[in-house]
Amino acid sequence: MITVENILLADGQRKDLFIESSTHKVIDGSSLLALPGLIDTHVHFRTPGHEYKENWITGAQAAIAGGYTTVFDMPNTTPSTISKQTLSEKKALIEKQLEEAGIPLNYGLYLGVDKNHFDEISKCLLDIVALKIFMSSSTGSLLVSDDSSLHAAFALAKAFDLLICTHAEDETTILKNTDLYQEKTFSTHSLVRDEVAAAKGVEKAISLAKLYNIRLHILHVSTQDEIALIRQAKDEGVLVTAEATPQHLFLDDVAYNTLGSKAQINPALRDKKHRIALLKAVQDGIIDTIGSDHAPHTLEEKALPYGKAPSGMPGIETTLPLLLTAYHNKLLTLEQIQKLTHDNPKNIYRLESQNDWTLVDLAMEKTISKKDLKTKCGWSAFEGMTMKGFPVYTILKGHIFTAQTLGALTC
Ligand code: DOR
Ligand code: ZN
Repeated sequence: MITVENILLADGQRKDLFIESSTHKVIDGSSLLALPGLIDTHVHFRTPGHEYKENWITGAQAAIAGGYTTVFDMPNTTPSTISKQTLSEKKALIEKQLEEAGIPLNYGLYLGVDKNHFDEISKCLLDIVALKIFMSSSTGSLLVSDDSSLHAAFALAKAFDLLICTHAEDETTILKNTDLYQEKTFSTHSLVRDEVAAAKGVEKAISLAKLYNIRLHILHVSTQDEIALIRQAKDEGVLVTAEATPQHLFLDDVAYNTLGSKAQINPALRDKKHRIALLKAVQDGIIDTIGSDHAPHTLEEKALPYGKAPSGMPGIETTLPLLLTAYHNKLLTLEQIQKLTHDNPKNIYRLESQNDWTLVDLAMEKTISKKDLKTKCGWSAFEGMTMKGFPVYTILKGHIFTAQTLGALTC
């Protein structure tokens, strides 16, 4: 049995935690905060096909170091995760890598929607957490942009009571902008993948969710207009929920000046007014979840010129410290952080309760440094930033991992 004595909870109460374990251990929790094991519903751990960027050994280590005990992995792998077979092959690789890592991470997989594989959906119901639809092209080859395929996918989600998660940007707008903006600086990315593309994508996804009366989770919301559409849809009773990422909340397009390609992500970073609106939407509960969108690429890939460098940045190790720093800056409450990283993901994805815990030292201050990172890509857009509030113990299935060293105290 693991006992954590006298620990602070997000609601301000204190209690003792009792966690079934093969080892006996008592932790003095009096100077720590307990959050239920964090759930990151948006990671790209890159297996299979891109293990030079990340795999489930380094990915799981990064998750534990970041305070996460559950992750949901995206389907834009190679091959894409779009069938019963690719799902089970991916699962076998993950199990092997987690075994090697010695980290029994809870995980779930998305099925990527592909118009040539609609018949796979019914075969995969027990193996997936949701469907993922890329309404515009991003990293990988998944894309469902034509109306008839989108209708077919939403109808299938209705038939099988599946949650749809969308990368909702409008492909036509992006293609038009690609022709229009020929400059080759990284900041062009925010002009090519502009606010209009995001709003059009979200508008379409919401109209389909309304039409088919299905549960829709809109990923990485980044603009004022998307927020207005989501707010309105929620008011109308559409079954829509939304995610924001730390990069859209804590970075804006000024970041291209210092980060160059490291700031290139899909959807793109916006100007400050959108970032402030997003923060307000998080505070107001219009945004339901924070996903890290942990999307590692190597520094070599990121050194390529605009147009060749891939979009995405790692984030699972910096998400909680960023949120806790926002708490210290009076931007978020601890209860909001728990809702965004555990309670709402659990409800939206209909997950069972777990006795996993993330124990946080709210007073710990550290500057993000690549030497501390577990992600295989070895960099963070937040390097050099000092944050306050870090996970120190991650308790997963009765095993205590010290988040700083990743040594398992009991395994
Ligand atoms: O920036 C991004 N990177 N956005 C995506 O949609 C995909 C992701 C990746 O897999 O690299
Ligand atoms: Zn993503």
